[in-house]
Amino acid sequence: MRPNYPFNCWYVAATSGEVGEDFLARRLLDVPVLLYRRSTGEVVAMEDRCIHRAFPLSAGRRDGDRVVCGYHGFSYEPDGCLAHVPSQENLPPGARVRTYPIFEKAPFVWIWLGEPGAAALRPPPRVPWYGDGTGWASTDEVLKVGANYLLLQEHYLDLTDVFVMHPEVVPPDIDVLPALDEVEVSERSVSYSRSMPPSRLAPWEADVTGLPEDTLATRREEGRFVTPALHVQHYSIDLDDGSAHELLRIQGFTPETPDSTHVFLQMARTYAKDDERVADFLRTMFHDWALRDSVVLEAIQSRLGDRGEPRRDINVKADRAAVRARRIAMDMVDDESGSFVLNWKL
Ligand code: FES
Repeated sequence: MRPNYPFNCWYVAATSGEVGEDFLARRLLDVPVLLYRRSTGEVVAMEDRCIHRAFPLSAGRRDGDRVVCGYHGFSYEPDGCLAHVPSQENLPPGARVRTYPIFEKAPFVWIWLGEPGAAALRPPPRVPWYGDGTGWASTDEVLKVGANYLLLQEHYLDLTDVFVMHPEVVPPDIDVLPALDEVEVSERSVSYSRSMPPSRLAPWEADVTGLPEDTLATRREEGRFVTPALHVQHYSIDLDDGSAHELLRIQGFTPETPDSTHVFLQMARTYAKDDERVADFLRTMFHDWALRDSVVLEAIQSRLGDRGEPRRDINVKADRAAVRARRIAMDMVDDESGSFVLNWKL
């Protein structure tokens, strides 16, 4: 059974802070990958499997920028070429371990596990809300969820669950989330937007913005399936004087296996940018939020049974964006040649 994620897509492999001199072993799209940083600072990604007897290269060691296998001592250059075999002078011609294109722009290290020649044709999505001079202050975190990546994409494209799962975050004068204003679909992305009527602030909103709880404000919420690998949600508290307090939840969803997903979470805000207390508050709040979501998504995954079992869901209006996103992802999977994926998995 083919997995339901496209290979010809940039995925987040790690945060910039996770990759250093030491080896980082991570399964991505069910492929074992070894990541490390060369002495020049560039990130190397290679298959975490020695070409001699399939020993994990991550269990070996570094010799300068080379990777030395921990079994018989074969060593590899950062481009994957076999450089040394301790037991003989000659090298098998053309012997190399597979390496993968990498693109790093903090906070994310992106990887391309698809057809190598296609990587340059599709640059990774832009995430321009990180770092000095951008107007945003950020926190980030890496999580893992025992559920298929599309369950996560769908979950965050329909936030009507908040009344049941996270009622404490809902502004006090909002009883029901208004219908989506708009669902916009392009060939590879889906976005939705929703406006909420004026309401006083929820306690968390008052806490992070420093505004009194009886402040009346409207809210704009936008969610975007940027690619199968990236979801961006925008939440803005808009005041009568025209000012806005904006919050972004940026999530890289990278399948670890067909049934589990790495989540690379970045929270960015335009307010209280130098306030560590607010940063800690939001980090904790969204960490707890993600954990509660994980419990539900893992329970759903456990009900889906075999990976090939067809879905039997019915959809309602609030699912519009999620349904379109799933269709885009599945179209991308269908577009990829079966032979490529089959070869790849051998
Ligand atoms: S398995 Fe790596 S050198 Fe033998």
